[in-house]
Amino acid sequence: MWLQRLGRVLGHGHGHGHGQGQCRRHLSARIVQGTSIVVQPESESEGREAMTFPGVWLRDNCRCTECFHGSSRSRRLDWDSFDTRVRPVGVRTDQAAGQQQQQQLHVRWSDAHESSYPLDWLRQRSFDGRRQRAYLDEFYRPATRHWAGAEFQRIARHFDYGQVMAEDAALQQWLQALAVYGVALLRDAPLDGGVVRRLAERVGFIRRTTYGEEFVVQAKPGAQNFAYLSLPLPLHTDLPYYEYKPSVNILHCVTQTASPGGSNLLVDAFHIADRLRGERPADFERLCRVPVDWNDIGSEDGREFHNIWRAPVICLDAEGKYTRINHSVPQRDSHFSVPLAEVEPWYESYGRFVRLARDDAHAFKTRPGDVLTFNNIRLLHGRTGYDDTEHNSRYIVGAYLDWDIVYSRLRVLKKRSAAVQ
Ligand code: OGA
Ligand code: ZN
Ligand code: ZN
Repeated sequence: MWLQRLGRVLGHGHGHGHGQGQCRRHLSARIVQGTSIVVQPESESEGREAMTFPGVWLRDNCRCTECFHGSSRSRRLDWDSFDTRVRPVGVRTDQAAGQQQQQQLHVRWSDAHESSYPLDWLRQRSFDGRRQRAYLDEFYRPATRHWAGAEFQRIARHFDYGQVMAEDAALQQWLQALAVYGVALLRDAPLDGGVVRRLAERVGFIRRTTYGEEFVVQAKPGAQNFAYLSLPLPLHTDLPYYEYKPSVNILHCVTQTASPGGSNLLVDAFHIADRLRGERPADFERLCRVPVDWNDIGSEDGREFHNIWRAPVICLDAEGKYTRINHSVPQRDSHFSVPLAEVEPWYESYGRFVRLARDDAHAFKTRPGDVLTFNNIRLLHGRTGYDDTEHNSRYIVGAYLDWDIVYSRLRVLKKRSAAVQ
């Protein structure tokens, strides 16, 4: 609903009765309690409800060239002298001249300034809880839907690599599925080593790590990384030892082993956390609170590294929403810098988390040309063991993207597609 409105605001929608000669009544506005302004759109087919705007917020968001720098779309208001007690002293409304004939609210302020606000601009920023929820879930970040392993076939979305590379609509659908479900598969990619870079650059740019920009997952002698063996790789998130953990994995299957094994395992750890929260609240609380030392020690291209980050297994924001899951048995440090009394209960809780996840894992084997993409701050992934011989190898090329970059691309695509609807 928020994006439909965005489409209309950008000038391609219907239903506002902006046409010449159409009967329209007036937008009205009044000052309430000396500080706020209530705006009442009266002739709209949509959004007829009154909206209340605190005066201080309106004054702070004045759109005039003195207060707002148009080409950088940035506030230039001087906050060193900004009066947070500023009050509206007069309001009026009109229908501005010009192509769009947008209805406007005009305000005179106690600091002698005057401001104007288009109605659609105000409506998009309404403080109404439902409208704010729609903006947050549709535009800020798509609302996530959590799934159990048994639901994987139902939630898994497949996209054609060529279409994603060529068509913005396919790119948008892929990124939207990745945001909502935490996983999406691309098919029929070419089998060259440049696919992950081209895909990452279609979105934005690769997030580099200790292991480089692109990395190759294959059984390697003298492996510097546990994944570079043909052993089973237990469920994990990659790179928990970084404060700024790369957040989207791209794994391009170039060659798949013909032996049994080499399958990927996936688990929605947000679903596992939901279950713990409901069924084992004491485990949930502990896994959210007790910081764990995650590490990675080694060298790559002759440069030594020693990465450590301390964070709980389940990280929450102030609203209790999941911000990040950390889990990796190989990359969990032997340093465990917590009070003695926390240790044994934490192990019990972690053991239950690991078993719940293992029992929920969905296994599937990618084929050459598949590109598996998933959310590294949400999903656990692993791999079953496989035989690696000269004639039977497995070759996966990987890279990371960051969510900041993915969400940004998604918003740009949504704005653009809303504008042409
Ligand atoms: C990894 C990893 C999965 C695979 O390298 O961290 O999870 O399919 N690899 O080999
Ligand atoms: Zn101004
Ligand atoms: Zn991994």
